[in-house]
Amino acid sequence: MQTVSNVLNLVKTAIEPALKNAQIVVDATAGNGHDTLFLAEHTPANAKIYAFDIQETALTNTRAITAEYAERIDYVLASHDKIAELVSEPIDVAMFNLGYLPGEKHCVTTKVESTMAAVRQVLAKLSCNGVCVVVAYPGHEAGAQEAADLEDFFTVLPKKDYTVGCYRLLNHARTAPYAYVVEKVR
Ligand SMILES: C[S@@+](CC[C@H](N)C(=O)[O-])C[C@H]1O[C@@H](n2cnc3c(N)ncnc32)[C@H](O)[C@@H]1O
Repeated sequence: MQTVSNVLNLVKTAIEPALKNAQIVVDATAGNGHDTLFLAEHTPANAKIYAFDIQETALTNTRAITAEYAERIDYVLASHDKIAELVSEPIDVAMFNLGYLPGEKHCVTTKVESTMAAVRQVLAKLSCNGVCVVVAYPGHEAGAQEAADLEDFFTVLPKKDYTVGCYRLLNHARTAPYAYVVEKVR
């Protein structure tokens, strides 16, 4: 059984310290709401969370699972490439769990253009010591393109502004999911 070697578990562990003091948090891909719930459970009672998804079903599922925290969650039925427009505050923590909604049509998946636009918008809005995590799924065509473009983009980010790490399982298939962790350092 995978515990810390599971990439999602690992990124969640990585952002926990930043979540403790976070005021503004973005779940850029709400899906079934598991990640939004995690973010709500690990942030202060006055923190605000934006949960974006382009599918009504996803937001319905997210609303249901996070009902206890609903008064501080903004459920946004819009593409994450509208983050710059719809989130006015600096962002302390952002999470992208790319791909498609489990159990729904696979054609409604995150796409490289909007993913890259959204990631750029988040990085521009990250507060100092803010963290953005991206879980990529290179096992399907759109996911492979996203992973490649993310890698190219993150590799040349100026290190005086951002530190970027990548977590990959070296003894699993090359197509296994992996994660990027980006910290704004000034
Ligand atoms: C792998 S699922 C996310 C899993 C989710 N975080 C959870 O905890 O269940 C990916 C989600 O991204 C959503 N998505 C696809 N394109 C999007 C976009 N441009 N903006 C926001 N969400 C998008 C899909 O509808 C899907 O629900």
